[in-house]
Amino acid sequence: MKKILVTGGLGYIGSHTVVELQLAGFEVIIIDNLSNSSKEVIHGIKNITGVEPTFEELDLRDKEATISFFKKHSAISGIIHFAASKAVGESVTNPLLYYENNLSTLITILQQIQHKENISFIFSSSCTVYGQAETMPISEKAPVQQAISPYGNTKQIGEEILQDTAKIAEGLQVISLRYFNPIGAHSSTEIGELPDGVPQNLVPFITQTAIGLRQELAVFGNDYPTEDGTCIRDYIHVVDLAKAHVTALKRLLDEKHETSFEVFNIGTGKGSSVLEVIESFERVSKQSLNYKIVGRREGDVISVYADTTKANTILGWKATSTLDEAMLSAWEWEQKVRKTK
Ligand code: NAD
Ligand code: UFG
Repeated sequence: MKKILVTGGLGYIGSHTVVELQLAGFEVIIIDNLSNSSKEVIHGIKNITGVEPTFEELDLRDKEATISFFKKHSAISGIIHFAASKAVGESVTNPLLYYENNLSTLITILQQIQHKENISFIFSSSCTVYGQAETMPISEKAPVQQAISPYGNTKQIGEEILQDTAKIAEGLQVISLRYFNPIGAHSSTEIGELPDGVPQNLVPFITQTAIGLRQELAVFGNDYPTEDGTCIRDYIHVVDLAKAHVTALKRLLDEKHETSFEVFNIGTGKGSSVLEVIESFERVSKQSLNYKIVGRREGDVISVYADTTKANTILGWKATSTLDEAMLSAWEWEQKVRKTK
């Protein structure tokens, strides 16, 4: 059984990926500092797969502790690196927190593994690296644009650090997955997204409004040059996204990769407007949502959706869930969370 380290494995995308890794027969070790997650997620994972992953509570900014971890666990074949801070707005007000947490941790990990004979590494990147691309859908050939936020910049710099390191570290092979907008939860309702405080993202704001935690959803602008005037995104079910990590990891472990640093877009290929997401929610939850149109949110790009040809043909992965399925899973998760609180 191959041992895989999942940093940030108790977080939203990490926990769903741990489940898929275990179901695919991998042994998982999680590192998390619980800064945006809780230990209870381990039970959720175990309830789905029947296997409790090994967990090390560790802050990757603690260099000594990280070095000791890698000394203790030398038999790791792969790393999926989710651990990072991800609030775009906070990154603008506290950029150094973001550069430290998202980049110094990456560097420390790479220092520990760069001389290994064979190590596969999957990086959590984001479609934010494309900014407002000139043509839609966005392929991996679209240029990386100057980042709007320090958070986005950490993803761009992270990719550059990995690309440069993979050039000289012979045993290191890397795949960077550029996620579009992950939504939804595991169908078991054992794990899902747990936003801290008022959600900044659309889908948790919708479900929290519907459950009565928020009064109404503010739709940020309906005067964009799109069909209904609201912004367009590519919303991908988190379980589809989790499976993409397993597929990418296997590609590296089976030495099917073409270069030591590869990039794939991970989305559905379909753009949905904010109003379409609301309609989908209303359809699956059989209730109407309280919302109003307000002004634009600063920094929002008009339209972003993926060209997934490369992921479909070269990686051999394709998203299978519909927007309705993802919205239903988000709604079922919200209801479960509130019932148990
Ligand atoms: P999350 O906050 O739910 O998960 C991140 C996990 O990492 C948390 O459990 C947190 O406690 C842990 N962590 C943070 N800093 C750490 C540190 N120094 N040491 C150890 N653990 C640490 O976030 P997520 O939505 O699951 O995102 C995972 C990754 O995907 C992040 O790198 C994020 O930037 C990236 N990403 C997320 C989205 C999205 O919309 N959710 C989109 C694109 C990319
Ligand atoms: N929106 C609203 N009201 C809300 C929240 C969002 O109308 O209360 C709108 C936004 O204006 C945008 C769309 O819903 O048009 C999606 O917004 P999100 O905040 O859910 O997602 P973003 O595309 O803005 O950003 C997300 C993550 C970033 C990541 C990016 C790409 O928050 O971290 O996806 O992966 F970089």
